[in-house]
Amino acid sequence: MDTYSYPTTSALFQRATKVIPCGIYGHFAPAPYVPVSAYPFFSDRAKGPRFWDVDGNEFIDYMCGYGPMVLGYANPVVDEAYQKQLAQSDINSLASPLMVDLAECLVDLNSIADWAFFAKNGTDVVNYAVTIARAATGRRTVVAISGGYHGTTPWMQAAGHHGVMEEDHAYVVRIPWNDLAAFEKAIAERKGDIAAFLSSPYHHPIFQDNVLPAEGYWAGIQALCRKHGIVLISDDVRCGFRLGLHGSHEKFGFKPDLAVYCKAIANGYPVSALVGTDALKTEAAKVFHTGSYWYQAAPMAAALACIAEMKRIDAPTLLEGIGTKLNDGLIRLAKSHGYDLRVTGNPGMAYYRLTDDPSLMLHQDWCAECTLRGAFFTSHHNWFVSTAHTDDVLQRTWDIADDAFKVVKAKHG
Ligand SMILES: Cc1ncc(COP(=O)(O)O)c(C=O)c1O
Repeated sequence: MDTYSYPTTSALFQRATKVIPCGIYGHFAPAPYVPVSAYPFFSDRAKGPRFWDVDGNEFIDYMCGYGPMVLGYANPVVDEAYQKQLAQSDINSLASPLMVDLAECLVDLNSIADWAFFAKNGTDVVNYAVTIARAATGRRTVVAISGGYHGTTPWMQAAGHHGVMEEDHAYVVRIPWNDLAAFEKAIAERKGDIAAFLSSPYHHPIFQDNVLPAEGYWAGIQALCRKHGIVLISDDVRCGFRLGLHGSHEKFGFKPDLAVYCKAIANGYPVSALVGTDALKTEAAKVFHTGSYWYQAAPMAAALACIAEMKRIDAPTLLEGIGTKLNDGLIRLAKSHGYDLRVTGNPGMAYYRLTDDPSLMLHQDWCAECTLRGAFFTSHHNWFVSTAHTDDVLQRTWDIADDAFKVVKAKHG
């Protein structure tokens, strides 16, 4: 199989480093991709499950824009709704009636929602949720999970990150995932000061196997929150709509007070949502939170169309089936080459790791060799599938993975 080269990406990256700090920042930055020379950095076209880089190389995308793309790029149903609203009114000096439609849609759909609020990013709504919890309880401390990601606000970033002060974490306690005793200990230590427990529905850190909730974990967390008057916040930014349309908490049998959504809500158009229970509605109304583009109507039209389409095709069931099929095939292929591919987390957004080399170099190399042949795999983050990842696409992916296994076998033995 021929491998790709990236001269146009390289030239663009050289230009980017002159005018953009880091060239490409955040989660698209080249740094986590090892080896860097195996990956493209710029794309100018995407359709269905594929994107094309600026050198014209075609990739089957297993990152799906890091989660937002759930129905395939340029999905006609979602794009038509977006374009129609864009032509009619998008940014305006008044709110769109679509905002009410979308709030009603989420209240109908999400099992804990009595109201909804909209912004642009996951970070916006996580911040709002935490501020509401502090306002409602009159307390300061947030308990979150070690390695859990909730955005880039300094208090959410890991200790020691550049520019993050010790004081930013004064009221944040990080505890291990699936550890009820650690939560009880935090409650005892921060007596009467815990405003919120904040966590994703299951643990999906980077560079580590993902971990589902242990039996009884969420029931225990919920009971402790209720007993001590702590607001339970589900960060459903990454899992939301992929694991279930009624909120991922339904899958794991718990009821948060607040839940935040972003990524898959509008197939890539920029809108995020916070939903909450009646008990917190008045406090939410009192907290000031807004942004320049948060009332944009066209992304709300896209969200309404995306949710209707996900319902029509039962997207969560499809995604789980596609993910399971992909994973079974990859695990089988790995085995046929003498390797053990561990797949953890939800099948449609799983984390992958070749266990044969604990340094992760073998795994990184295999992901790089797959990418060089047209299957865009990252080695540090969970992947995502979309409903556009058809059987043909999976077959092509397996062929690429097979070829890449031969190459790494020859290199690593
Ligand atoms: C679980 C989770 N919470 C919050 C965020 C932050 O969302 P955003 O990058 O849209 O601000 C992310 C982003 O990846 C996420 O995965």
